[in-house]
Amino acid sequence: MSFLRAGFDTSASALAFSVFELARDCELQQQVRQRLRAVLGRHGGRVTYEALSDMRDLTNVINEALRMYPPANFLDREASRDYQIPGSDIVLPKGTGVVVSVTGLHHDPRYWTEPHRFIPDRFKEANSRDRPNYTFLPFSAGPRTCIGMRVAYLQVKIGLLHILNNFEVYAVPATPNILRVDSSKLIVTPAGDVVLGFRRIPSM
Ligand code: HEM
Repeated sequence: MSFLRAGFDTSASALAFSVFELARDCELQQQVRQRLRAVLGRHGGRVTYEALSDMRDLTNVINEALRMYPPANFLDREASRDYQIPGSDIVLPKGTGVVVSVTGLHHDPRYWTEPHRFIPDRFKEANSRDRPNYTFLPFSAGPRTCIGMRVAYLQVKIGLLHILNNFEVYAVPATPNILRVDSSKLIVTPAGDVVLGFRRIPSM
């Protein structure tokens, strides 16, 4: 049950937001498509684990979607001992509940320039080097981190790969400019329909 509950909507959310953002930036979409086809070509056109691992651009797109729209947008913990927050005189007594806003962290301009823009390249190694640890927490961290992270990347990558290799996706007049989140859902999900245009293209 845990695997189904934790693994299905979260990955679907990451895939949907990735496609939404790529539909709004056709140049970026084309660039990602060209690069993933180049990788596919090097792997004989076969969608293998190795080919998917080579598709860094897809990872960056997914990471950027997870940054802007973390499917689990908060983490909750309980202080297991009295804890003084470093650099302050605030002490959290043992047993205090703590809620970490992942959305807040992922939009903090101290760590993310232009936080409201979709820029997958910010996850390139050269651009990530100086970012402090624990500023990107879509899968949480520590002993209770997501155990399905690798499966998640794998299935979202496969979905994105097949969509981008077979379709051009684009915004239509009914496509919303700003996505509102459905507050009745635990996993971050857009409120209402997100209409996009799909045009079939010759696949590789
Ligand atoms: C993009 C997709 C996913 C995201 C963003 C995500 C996010 C998370 C987060 C944030 C947690 C930790 C919650 C916490 O620390 O309080 C978690 C836990 C968990 N996830 Fe994922 N997850 C994803 C996909 C998956 C998949 C595909 C599976 C299984 C195949 C999975 C299985 C689990 C399980 C079983 C836990 C509980 C681990 C524990 O309590 O020790 N998740 N996930």
